[in-house]
Amino acid sequence: MNPGRQMHLGVYAVGTGNHVSGWRFPGAATSSEDFSIFKTIADSCERGKLDFLFVGDSLAFIPDQHPGQMLRFEPLTLHAALATQTSRVGLVATVSTTYSAPFNVARMFASLDKLSGGRAGWNMVTTGLPEAAGNFGSTPMKHATRYKSATEFVEVVKGLWDSWEEGAITTNVETGEYFDKTKVHPLDHVGKFYSVRGPLNVTRTPQGQPVLVQAGASEDGQKFASRYAEMIFASQLDKEHAKEFYATMKAQVAGWDRDPEHCKILVGFMPIIGRNEEEARKKLSELMRLAVPEVALKMLSARFGHDMSGFDLDGPVPDLPLSNDIQTHAKVAYDKARKANLTLRDIYNQVAVARGYLFACGDAAAIADVMEEWVVERACDGFMLVPPYFPAAFDEFIDAVVPELQKRGIFRREYSGSTLREHLGLPVPTNRHSKPVP
Ligand SMILES: Cc1cc2nc3c(=O)[nH]c(=O)nc-3n(C[C@H](O)[C@H](O)[C@H](O)COP(=O)(O)O)c2cc1C
Repeated sequence: MNPGRQMHLGVYAVGTGNHVSGWRFPGAATSSEDFSIFKTIADSCERGKLDFLFVGDSLAFIPDQHPGQMLRFEPLTLHAALATQTSRVGLVATVSTTYSAPFNVARMFASLDKLSGGRAGWNMVTTGLPEAAGNFGSTPMKHATRYKSATEFVEVVKGLWDSWEEGAITTNVETGEYFDKTKVHPLDHVGKFYSVRGPLNVTRTPQGQPVLVQAGASEDGQKFASRYAEMIFASQLDKEHAKEFYATMKAQVAGWDRDPEHCKILVGFMPIIGRNEEEARKKLSELMRLAVPEVALKMLSARFGHDMSGFDLDGPVPDLPLSNDIQTHAKVAYDKARKANLTLRDIYNQVAVARGYLFACGDAAAIADVMEEWVVERACDGFMLVPPYFPAAFDEFIDAVVPELQKRGIFRREYSGSTLREHLGLPVPTNRHSKPVP
């Protein structure tokens, strides 16, 4: 069945697990503010030869949410610590374009890329959360404006990452010349949203530029992703929809004169693993029994960007306009509900189980079957794993499903490179200032 395609795998690391009640599962970690659980997850990633460990972010405390979304470490600070404890796994972090300055972001990711020996990736989000605006003395920006400013933001960041050509540092102890002035370039950017002089005060990084990642699948989000993203995190629940999304995104990438192979599409996926299907189903029922309805309902509202508490759960999915806050998950849920004639409760259950991501329940071979099928049929290039709880549910994946994928020849047995770009098969971007080699 396998025609030689290799899948890419990352993990969404949340100390309290990705399932809404994962932290309540016997033996599960209960905090997202405990370095040791992230170190354990990172060790498991390297044991399983995963491409990367992902740390998401939001910029506000909102009570009665999934606990991993209420409280968390600042992702780059966490990754700087993880960089010193790991050697191979990629380190991908969310940073908002709406509430950051491009110079800071360019500098932070360049620093992480150096500290980790070329393993940094930036998940660029535009942050629609209204509560975040209040923490920055501003009001929420319109969806379209967020993506316009994000476009200029990423252009500035990429420009800053090209400030220093390869070989600019000469450290000539004889002459006292520390660097070659002809190989350092200011940016002198003046645009609608940002004015940035440059150059960056960090030199060229091991990956040339850290890997750019994006996850918003609204129309503007897709346009932005196809132009810049080297990896897309997608939320897809239905294989046929996922195949359409995959083909559309790859075509859009090609439309920017980019190689579609240089933009990997990873689908969020929650595996619930047992020694047999019955055991896996029992774990799922236990997780559902532990779910707090108010928290699950809040999560449902966050996914739709509308308060869903007033709607009949056993009625149809209400026809609401796409919100200014978030569109991706709502669109996927609407599509699936229409296709399969689902009630709001069906979507609620999907959100409560897997935060709205795809999930599968079964033994290692059954989980591997789903993953292989999606990759071989080009519904995705791999998966962002969202284990329900840590560490056990993730370790079961690493120790049972990864060997199964390896046996089928669809996932690496060893790392062949040491940078995130190498793991993902992405080229090192050419510095815009470098002279072509004759
Ligand atoms: C796997 C995955 C991870 C995500 N991680 C974050 C995150 O850490 N922080 C965040 O604000 N949004 C995150 N998102 C949401 C999207 O990045 C995006 O902000 C959201 O879908 C709204 O964009 P849209 O209106 O273009 O859909 C994630 C989405 C997916 C599918």
